[in-house]
Amino acid sequence: MCGIIGYVGNLSAKEEILNGLKILEYRGYDSAGICCFYKGELKLIKKKGSVDTLSQVCQGQLKDVHCGIGHTRWATHGDPSDKNAHPFLSENNSVAIVHNGIIENFESLKGNLQKQGVRFRSETDSEVIAQLLQKSKCESELKKVQELSNVLVGSYAIAILFKGLENQIFAIRKNSPLIVGKSPNGYYLSSDVNALIDKTTEYHIMDEDEIIWIDNNDCYAFDKNLQAKEIVYKKMDLDKQDISIGNFEHYMLKEIMQVPTAIKLTINECDSMVNPFTKLPKDMIKNLKHLTIVGCGTAFNAGMTAEHYAREREIIAECVYASEYRYRKFLKQDNEVCVFISQSGETADTIEALKIAKEHQIPTIVITNVATSTINKLADYIIPTKAGPEIAVASTKAYNAQITALYNLMDYIYCIKNKINCRTCILKDKLYDVVDKLENYKFDNIEELAQDIVNTERVFFIGRGVDYATSQEASLKLKEISNIHSESLYAGELKHGTLALIDENTIVIVIATQKNLFDKTMNSIYEIKARGAKVALVTQFNIDCEAVDMLIKIPTTDQMLMPEISIYPMQMLAYKTAVLKGLNPDKPRNLAKSVTVE
Ligand code: G6P
Repeated sequence: MCGIIGYVGNLSAKEEILNGLKILEYRGYDSAGICCFYKGELKLIKKKGSVDTLSQVCQGQLKDVHCGIGHTRWATHGDPSDKNAHPFLSENNSVAIVHNGIIENFESLKGNLQKQGVRFRSETDSEVIAQLLQKSKCESELKKVQELSNVLVGSYAIAILFKGLENQIFAIRKNSPLIVGKSPNGYYLSSDVNALIDKTTEYHIMDEDEIIWIDNNDCYAFDKNLQAKEIVYKKMDLDKQDISIGNFEHYMLKEIMQVPTAIKLTINECDSMVNPFTKLPKDMIKNLKHLTIVGCGTAFNAGMTAEHYAREREIIAECVYASEYRYRKFLKQDNEVCVFISQSGETADTIEALKIAKEHQIPTIVITNVATSTINKLADYIIPTKAGPEIAVASTKAYNAQITALYNLMDYIYCIKNKINCRTCILKDKLYDVVDKLENYKFDNIEELAQDIVNTERVFFIGRGVDYATSQEASLKLKEISNIHSESLYAGELKHGTLALIDENTIVIVIATQKNLFDKTMNSIYEIKARGAKVALVTQFNIDCEAVDMLIKIPTTDQMLMPEISIYPMQMLAYKTAVLKGLNPDKPRNLAKSVTVE
């Protein structure tokens, strides 16, 4: 969703900001804009549409500028349009702002300002920030910025330019990330560390309520009482390669090919000397009675997979959508621990759900892929996944990394509870076997199945037990990027309603990796075949059955870890289908990589 870039330094601010916005494109957006100090004025250019469109409009303009702010907007308040795009200028053009997040009390703030005669130019919640700063009576700009935190309710990362304070940027954040990047060529601000990788040698993740003041020569940090703070920069540890598309046609394809590495690096992280599990209090784990797992989309599906694994490890676990967790009647369980899963660590529903758990004094663990994320700042304990930056909207390698981390967590809990030495746990070897199998997997028949799907009306994915969780993720992948209607079902539920939709225009993809459930699932296959649908079976077992039209044979590994393998051809299936339909799998319609609004 929305993205912020700021730059002060000796390079062209226009180029630096437009390049940064280009990197943020993957998050999803509908308009883009830039504002720079130019001949003593705040020069604003913003446009509905792509960053390329904005770049074209900027051609021949904003020459010799060295400080500015830019933004990619995902519409929430007000439609995608030139006027609702960021940055916003205050009424007399003396303040420019860009904002990520939501100002929940903007209507009352706007009403008050309008009563004072202030005229607004957009329908957004964000514009109110520029107008408030213009109206502020505080004696210094720093105090005006500080005052925002007393007035604004909601979440915000804001970058600000004040006319007259040439080549200076102010910034403030709450519940929305903002990162300062330092380089020999100046300072950058970004809401996403990925935009800083190629530009900066060091970075600083702003704390909650922190205020930043950057000028030509330096960067200063203040707490919410305006007490100066020392900035401790971290060395930039990501590589440009991590966010480049390389020789791949799409990021999604690159990321599917990186699945084995994502699993491997996550195993190593879980097994390292700084093993994240050792930070979990032993008593908390020993006494744990109920594990609640919360996430959205793919992260939820990873949680559902873990819920089944937990059961095998005698742990009572319940997986809940974050958007439901937030509003359902809260019932605290005895000795409960909550695990929040989020690739980006910025999903609003998941962050708000975590805050609710904390309000109820439930220990919170996050499993996240982005070390700089908001959720990491809020959680009690962090288990990082090591998938590396994921750019394609549809999550693939992060999903496998999440289930890898979750398997490790469940085994750790099991070992502590049963007084087993974790070092003797053989999960690591089993997971290495998964990596080995995936590295050598050939995706046979996937192109053909994708071809069939392109020409069909309906696709169902079915499975029993943990295979249902995989079918849920497989179905989500397909609908996210191919715009084909698909649904996932427990195989046993088919006959209780959905069978009515099965006909010769339907493809049913059956996932069957659990030996004890295999025969039961085969019964469903016969029911489906009798109604004329085409059946594809994803399994590691050798079968010869006339009712199966296409066999997607997958390698075998420990049965409990089969979800790591069975999802792999399904990720590729979604990718191939989207490509065959002529769609860009990296940027599906209506979706954003990280959904930072409710
Ligand atoms: C969005 C994305 C999904 C993703 C979900 C959760 O809906 O489009 O692909 O699974 O958010 O994202 P998170 O970053 O919290 O894992």
